[in-house]
This record gives sequence, C-alpha cells and structure tokens, in this order.
Amino acid sequence: MEISEKNKIMLEKIEKLMSEIATLAAKNADEAEALRIKYLGKKGDITALMNDFRNVPAEQKREIGQKLNVLKTAAQDKINELKEAAEVQKNAGSSVDLTRTPYPISLGSRHPLTIVKNEIVDIFSRLGFTLAEGPEVEDDWHVYSSMNFADDHPARDMQDTFFVESHPDIILRSHTSSVQARVMEKTQPPIRVICPGRVYRNEAISARAHCFFHQVEGLYIDKNVSFTDLKQVLLLFAQEMFGPDTKIRLRPSYFPFTEPSAEMDISCHLCGGKGCSFCKHTGWVEILGCGMVDPAVLEANGIDSSIYTGYAFGMGIERITNLKYQVKDLRMFSENDIRFLDEFTSAN
Ligand code: DAH
Repeated sequence: MEISEKNKIMLEKIEKLMSEIATLAAKNADEAEALRIKYLGKKGDITALMNDFRNVPAEQKREIGQKLNVLKTAAQDKINELKEAAEVQKNAGSSVDLTRTPYPISLGSRHPLTIVKNEIVDIFSRLGFTLAEGPEVEDDWHVYSSMNFADDHPARDMQDTFFVESHPDIILRSHTSSVQARVMEKTQPPIRVICPGRVYRNEAISARAHCFFHQVEGLYIDKNVSFTDLKQVLLLFAQEMFGPDTKIRLRPSYFPFTEPSAEMDISCHLCGGKGCSFCKHTGWVEILGCGMVDPAVLEANGIDSSIYTGYAFGMGIERITNLKYQVKDLRMFSENDIRFLDEFTSAN
C-alpha cells in the first residue's frame, strides 16, 4: 500500500515536469544552460526522479520507466532546441554574415628602396661580394679620420654632420664608407664586401635633399687589384641594373679615401643616350663615386699597402631608385603614403 502511494506521487511528479518542460523558454544560451542544469544536471529534478526509480518494485518498473524515459528525452530535446534558437538569434543580432564570400587578403608591398637595395646586393653577391654592416651611430674615427679626411675637411662641419650633444666624438654616420673601416679593422684581405645602410646629413628637407637617405658601399682588397677590375665590375653592375645596352663613363673626381677617384655616369636609359630633359640633354646620368683605396686608408686600418691594393665605390639607393622609377620627390620615400607604396606591389 505504502509502495503504491509512493509510485503515485512519482507519476504525478512526472506529469507535472512534463507540462513544465513544454512551456520552457530561454532568452539566450546561458539561460538554456541553466535550465539544463535545473532538470538534467547532477542534482536536477529529472535526475532525482531517475535515482528514485531504483526503489520502484519490479512489477511497476515497466510503466514508470517508460514515462521517465519519455520525460528525459522531451527535456533534452526542448533544451537543445532552446540552445539552437539562442545561437541563431545571436548571429542575426551581430553584423557578421557567416555566409558572405570572404574579402581577398590584400598583400603588402616592399618599400621601393628595399626592392632596389636587394637588387644591388643580389647583383654584387653573384660577383662574390658578401654583406657587411656597421652602426649608424658612429665615432669620428670610422666615419672620417680612418677614411683620410683632414681635420679641417668641410664634411666634418656641423652643417653636414649630426653630432650627439655633449659627445662631440659620436656622430650619425654621413656615409657608409665607415663600414669599410669596420671591416678592415677586423679582417685581413682578401676582402670583398657590399655594405648597404642608412646615412644622415644635416640638410634642409626638400624634394631633392633629405636629412637621411641610403647608400651602398663596395670594397674589394687583395693582391694586384687594379682600376681595370673596378671598371669591369661597375660595367657589369650597370648592365645588370639598367639593361645590357647600358654604357658607362668615368670622370676624374676627388674623395679623401680613394686615389685616383672617379665619378661614374651611365648612358641615360630613358633616351638611350640621345639626350632628353631627364639627362639634361647630355645623354649621361651620374650614379656613383669610386676609386682605388688610398694607401693611407689601408695603413690606417691595419692593412699593408705594400702588399695589397683595392678599390671602393659608393652609391645612393634613392638615386638609383629615382633612375629606375622616376620618383620626383625624395620625401615620398619616407612619407609612407599607401598610394605611393602600392605602386610597387608587383615590383618584388
Ligand atoms: N662616401 C661617398 C659619399 O658619401 C661615396 C663614395 C665615393 C664611396 C667614392 C666610395 C668611393 O667608396 O670610392 O659621397
């Protein structure tokens, strides 16, 4: 009698829960989860009934068991339904359209100066030159004294050089020739290096001048290195960089660290040497300075000038880039205007 009374109560509970489940509602996934815990969690109402079911006498297990199973499945289905509805609502509320085709990923571009620097380094590395670098914040010795600049040379002037306040010996390098000294002091010949880097000069910024720009220095020291070797390497470079029909010419010049010194022109690649406004109707454009390393420079840097000779050259990367891409205003290189940079997307 007592047992059947208990079973009656159990059946009533199942009935009540069944109608409760049918009316459940949740505003979001969290609420739906709270309902799952209330009914089906470890201490949930339906779980409690399932535990009581163990005490139901064998002859009644069938009927009550079936009803309990129907209740449990109904609760599970209902709560899953609520969770799904909450998910759909969440996506509809946000601006994310998961069915849309994705944006194409837009690739960045290399900076034109990097493209040209890589090209220069690449050409010389095929000729056996290896990469060398030095610091941008340098001392007077590496930038000037070891490069044979006289104490009163105008390049040392405040107008050209940035000094570190209170440390007159520490400067921002004004050319990459300082890397020549850095390499020579550590290495005995044969030396064959190419040294790209940023340099600084105290110039008013305009379309044609900037207070920082980039250079590539080349240095080759060995026994019996001659001016002919220099000319041949520079001709190969010019033809690789500007095309196989490019001609070069060397004009006598002066640099403290080379003797003899020269400036090199290439035949104007825009008009093919006929003369145009770009080459000021001369048919030639200047691209670099070069010469045989002055024996005084070799000696100052610990290399025996009675055994070794060498050549050096230096060029401005902006200058070469302007020749290749006709950039009219130097300031474009450092303004980071996306419209300018985008023009080089396919260049490399
Ligand atoms: N350092 C020179 C400059 O900044 C460029 C240069 C000229 C470098 C002749 C050299 C060279 O190595 O031989 O104007």
